[in-house]
Amino acid sequence: MNLTLRVWRQKERNSPGRIVEYRASNIIPDMSFLEVLDVVNEELIAKGEEPIAFDSDCREGICGTCSLVINGIAHGGQRGTTACQLHMRRFKDGDTITVEPWRAKSFPVLRDLVTDRSAFDRIIAAGGFVSVNTGGCPDGNALPVPKIEADAAMDAASCIGCGACVAACKNASAMLFVAAKISHLAHLPQGRSERERRALAMVNQMDAEGFGSCTVTGSCEAVCPKEISLDFIAKMNREYGKAILKGDVRIRAEGGAG
Ligand code: SF4
Ligand code: FES
Repeated sequence: MNLTLRVWRQKERNSPGRIVEYRASNIIPDMSFLEVLDVVNEELIAKGEEPIAFDSDCREGICGTCSLVINGIAHGGQRGTTACQLHMRRFKDGDTITVEPWRAKSFPVLRDLVTDRSAFDRIIAAGGFVSVNTGGCPDGNALPVPKIEADAAMDAASCIGCGACVAACKNASAMLFVAAKISHLAHLPQGRSERERRALAMVNQMDAEGFGSCTVTGSCEAVCPKEISLDFIAKMNREYGKAILKGDVRIRAEGGAG
């Protein structure tokens, strides 16, 4: 296959960017999208030019590091697929493909296709963990978890933190990511003891990072490579609402505000 790539090039965070065109020749249809960028980069390096900066790590759809908007769609538009698992057989010989970074105020471009997604790390650090001592490895059935709860926790835990949900949302909302992380722990007994503090802290941090509001357009769910359901946003809203109410009750009981 021979392709034309239109790639966003930007030297650094505060410099202006622009689309630059490259030819990608003799591409094998079984190559992944990132391997095509590797091919283009090898040619650029051989010519003494700056290679295209892009993020990747596992290249197996596990780590959430790859982050490309391909032809206007985060991760390229193949349902349940990360950019690193998108193969060129999905495209046609002679295609022109536009490649851009995630676009969101809270994910500033650092260079070319690389964005700073540390806002997600700070949201996790605000409460996306269990701090109670859960002891050693218990017997399989020592802590009964109903299957329906275990399945929901597992579905939420499959979020790889890639940020495509933010990139796809017209409001740059991070609700799907935060909802997955809050729901994952809220569905398990080990996560319940801190559920109110967690919901408040993570939602507050999400707001502090400048992510937008959710208007339920569903674009996040459509591009999510792990097919995280919008239902988790409803679950997060319930967790957050309960935390607010309990906090309000506690404040009243302690003779505080209200
Ligand atoms: S919810 Fe989906 S799109 Fe958003 S960070 Fe998690 S895996 Fe990525
Ligand atoms: S590089 Fe790890 S998910 Fe794409």
